[in-house]
Amino acid sequence: MKNPLLLLSFAALTAVSCPLVAQDDGEATGRAKPPIKVEMEKLDEALEAIEAFLEEPAGEPPLAPAAAAQQALQAAKQHAPRTTWQQPEAERAAFVVAYRLMVNDTMRRLVDLEDALLQQDWAKAKTVAASLGQLKKEGHDRFKKRRRTE
Ligand code: HEM
Repeated sequence: MKNPLLLLSFAALTAVSCPLVAQDDGEATGRAKPPIKVEMEKLDEALEAIEAFLEEPAGEPPLAPAAAAQQALQAAKQHAPRTTWQQPEAERAAFVVAYRLMVNDTMRRLVDLEDALLQQDWAKAKTVAASLGQLKKEGHDRFKKRRRTE
C-alpha cells in the first residue's frame, strides 16, 4: 500500500473490537511481548524484592515494590489472557470476567501484604506472600498458555 494515510486508517479499523475481549496477542503474531506477560514480570520482580526483604527484615519495609505489584496487576487486568481465543466464542466474555475476578482476589491479597508491611508484622507478611504462590498456580493453571514441554 503506497499511501501511508490509507495504511493507517486500515490499521485503525482493524484495531476496533469489543473491549472485554479485545485481542492483543502480540507474541503469537511476532510483535511486542504480550501485555499481561510484561505486567506479570513486573509483579514477579516486585514480589521477589519483598520476599528477599522478609528473609532478614531490617530497616524500612519495601513499600515501593508493594505498590509496584499492585500497579502491575491493575495494568494486567486491562487485557484479556491469550487463552481467551482458545475458548468457544460464546464463552469468551465470561472467561475474561473470571480472569478479572481472580486478578482482583490477588490484588486484595497484595493489599493485605502491604498492611502487614506497614504494621511491620513480618510473620503475617511472610504468610500472605506464601499464599500468593497458590494464587499464582491457580491463575496460571486456568488462564496461562501451557508450554509445549509442560
Ligand atoms: C500472584 C503471583 C503471580 C506471579 C508472581 C506471576 C508471574 C507471572 C510471570 C513471571 C509470567 C510470565 C512468564 C511466564 O509466562 O511464565 C506470568 C504469566 C501469566 N500470568 Fe501470572 N503471576 C501471578 C499470578 C497470576 C494470576 C493470579 C493470574 C490470573 C488471574 C495470572 C495470569 C497469567 C497469565 C494469563 C500469564 C500469561 C501472559 C502471556 O504470556 O500472555 N498470573 N505470570
